[in-house]
Amino acid sequence: MNYQFRQNKVLNLMDNNSVFVIFNKRPFEEAKSYDCCRNFYYLTGINEFDDILLFVKSYKSFVKLYIHTIDLEEERWTGQKLRPEEAKQISQITEIGYINQFMSDLKEYLNDNTKIYTLVKENDNYSYENYFKRTLGFNYDYLNGNDILKELRTIKDDEEINMIVKANKITDIGLDNILLHLQPGLKEYQIESYFDQAIKFNGATGYSFNTIAASGINSTCLHYSANTSTLVDGDLILFDLGASYKTYCADISRTYPINGKFTELQKRVYEIVLNGQKLIEASAKPGLTTKDLNNILINYFIPHLQKLKLITKKEEIRKYYFHGVSHHLGMDCHDFCVYDKLRPGAVISNEPGLYIPEWKIGIRIEDDLLITHNGCKNLSLGIKKEINEIEEFMSKRG
Ligand code: GLY
Ligand code: MN
Ligand code: MN
Repeated sequence: MNYQFRQNKVLNLMDNNSVFVIFNKRPFEEAKSYDCCRNFYYLTGINEFDDILLFVKSYKSFVKLYIHTIDLEEERWTGQKLRPEEAKQISQITEIGYINQFMSDLKEYLNDNTKIYTLVKENDNYSYENYFKRTLGFNYDYLNGNDILKELRTIKDDEEINMIVKANKITDIGLDNILLHLQPGLKEYQIESYFDQAIKFNGATGYSFNTIAASGINSTCLHYSANTSTLVDGDLILFDLGASYKTYCADISRTYPINGKFTELQKRVYEIVLNGQKLIEASAKPGLTTKDLNNILINYFIPHLQKLKLITKKEEIRKYYFHGVSHHLGMDCHDFCVYDKLRPGAVISNEPGLYIPEWKIGIRIEDDLLITHNGCKNLSLGIKKEINEIEEFMSKRG
């Protein structure tokens, strides 16, 4: 990754006579327990708690990284921390200091008119903005650095896209392992474990979010994740899951027949959802909003649900489809987006679903799309979703 390029972009977006401080503590994002602050990682490639990143833009502009002082006794217990040379090499930052020097350094760079950027979460009394107000005083102009990071992170570069593709490929292997072991009588958490084993074995560095393995009626609940029910012959199971690779997320949903064969009714609903997904993929392009895509899907669903005699009036669609079809995706599964309209380089989910409790049918099919100059590219190609490929692959089970 070209971290130096990203760091320079931050400097460019900062106001003159300002500093930007990022602590690697992860209090301000949808935190995943195994990751440090993703903004810190995005700018440095470093994932070590408590390190501090300082940008200074005044008569001289530079970036400085503060790492742990070396404590050999502590390292006997918790492992070796980064050494300055390693930190330099990974982050591409030439100025490295120790965190106990940070406060005195910072005070040197401040004058009466310096603006201080921090990562702020609204209404957070423990924010670094408040911390600085208490320790440095209120007379500085405090700015929200999240806006800068959001702008950078909305549009993915080629290396980031490769990471998302890799996360998708690992997820594909995990789903194949599920298909090869899926059978009535297992618990949802048992079938989930086949995914866990396969993705870890194949290099996943984490999960994008807690796996949803929702069988039978559970599949009609959007974010069911207890995963404790027993799989019943004739039911469907909906998986919404993703491997993450170096913090980049795959976000995939697939729905499979537990016994290996869809019923005619399940097939009928499945095809409606799958064709809806294909319609959204054919429609997604720069200039549209995710709301536009959702409206396209709703207008497509309405006549199908009328034909199935599930609804009569248009407004009733919300009874069977009640979420959005797309969100931005990246280091966070629900990622930043600063623009209203889709732009090339944005990555979004494509996840239509229909949830029909009276038929015990919940179907969601989700892929990840890269917005290109004139449309989009599917980053989840190869992950089985056609009825015949699922049934054929499942027929290979032992
Ligand atoms: N897995 C959460 C989502 O699809 O948005
Ligand atoms: Mn999902
Ligand atoms: Mn999603």
